[in-house]
Amino acid sequence: MKSKIIGHRGAKGESPENTLKSIKRALDLGCGGVEIDVHLSRDEHLMVIHDWTLDRTTNGEGKVKDYTLEELKKLNAGEGETIPTLNEVLNLVKGYKESVVLIEIKAPGCEKRVIDCVDSLEMKERSIIKCFHHGPLKMIKDLRPDFKTHCLLYGRPLNPVEIVKAAKGDGLSISHETFDKELVLECLNQGLEMTVWNANTVEDMELFKQMGFHYICTDFPSLFLKK
Ligand code: G3P
Ligand code: CA
Repeated sequence: MKSKIIGHRGAKGESPENTLKSIKRALDLGCGGVEIDVHLSRDEHLMVIHDWTLDRTTNGEGKVKDYTLEELKKLNAGEGETIPTLNEVLNLVKGYKESVVLIEIKAPGCEKRVIDCVDSLEMKERSIIKCFHHGPLKMIKDLRPDFKTHCLLYGRPLNPVEIVKAAKGDGLSISHETFDKELVLECLNQGLEMTVWNANTVEDMELFKQMGFHYICTDFPSLFLKK
């Protein structure tokens, strides 16, 4: 099994995170996919931005959910980029054959909208939905078992496999800061898909490949991939 290198928030360390420019950079470099974060606007559009608030990554301020799509689109998300919608991101990724998109739901409650958006672009086979809240993931599986989901975890639980099974998930996505080899082995032996965020050094990338991770996120894809 060959690990896929995934651009975290596009190419977060090299281009403004979660923008089309950053996502394009990661995919042009040859990443096997990208990871992105999703919030809802006031008028319930799916917006690709990491934080609940606009302050850190745009020239706006306050909560994403307090603004309409039209208002959010006027903001600068870095280097003149706008905050993309999920629809725009999926359209971009779709043009890169074989590439996948790891969609992290940051605002529970938008699951059905995410499913509809993925369906409308026929991107289900190339999408994995992730969330730190496992209730929404289970809801997705109850509704649409044909969608792939990964439970996000920070920490080292005693029962990682049970956690994923309880959410009817397909895999686990864990932080490089907290996992150990036994956890990874146990999950792989039980047939779970494994993702790690992030490998930002050549040493970590090699280690995570050897350990058998299916997806390895990175903030710096150009460290590992050259055009
Ligand atoms: O999806 C894995 C990782 O992106 C979760 O952490 O804070 O970067 O969204 P964060
Ligand atoms: Ca994320």
